[in-house]
Amino acid sequence: MGINIAIDGPAGAGKSTIAKKVAKELSFIYVDTGAMYRAMALYLLEKGISGDEKISEACHDADISIRYENGEQQVILNGKNVTAFLRKEEVGNMASVSSANPEVRAHLLKLQRNLAAENNVVMDGRDIGTTILPNAEVKIFLTASPQARAKRRFLENQQKGICSDYDQLVAEIAQRDRQDMER
Ligand code: DC
Repeated sequence: MGINIAIDGPAGAGKSTIAKKVAKELSFIYVDTGAMYRAMALYLLEKGISGDEKISEACHDADISIRYENGEQQVILNGKNVTAFLRKEEVGNMASVSSANPEVRAHLLKLQRNLAAENNVVMDGRDIGTTILPNAEVKIFLTASPQARAKRRFLENQQKGICSDYDQLVAEIAQRDRQDMER
């Protein structure tokens, strides 16, 4: 039985930055659950699947697993390492839509609980403290204004050489907050 630390909060609040530092400090495994939802979204985008019913059917064909290389989480989708493709805005926007699907959530819940049962983990996402790991030893809710979060995303993108529009990022973050909260 592992020791579990849950960090919840909206996109761009800094969850993964904090979670990675804490995991490193404690020699725990860092589990980025958003990346799993993004891998599912990538699968659906690649297959051109949309609409709730089709997503419910198709999500079971997405075999998503994680492994670690030099302490960094790598996401494997049907045998292929897709980590490098997951941070695109397009994938994030699809993840926000497809993560509302109950079948998608049930599919990923199993994997996340197994990881937490077998390892000491710092896990971040939207529903970790409430649904995935309600008995986590430590639960944190981390948030920041849409402007601060858009600025973080803007700088993150800049570092990766991706050019983005700040006002558009603020609007997208506000839109995703609405989708994630109304779920
Ligand atoms: O944290 P992120 O931006 O990588 O997450 C991508 C999407 O996945 C986000 O719109 C909400 C969803 N998500 C979720 O529903 N539950 C989680 N535990 C993690 C992410």
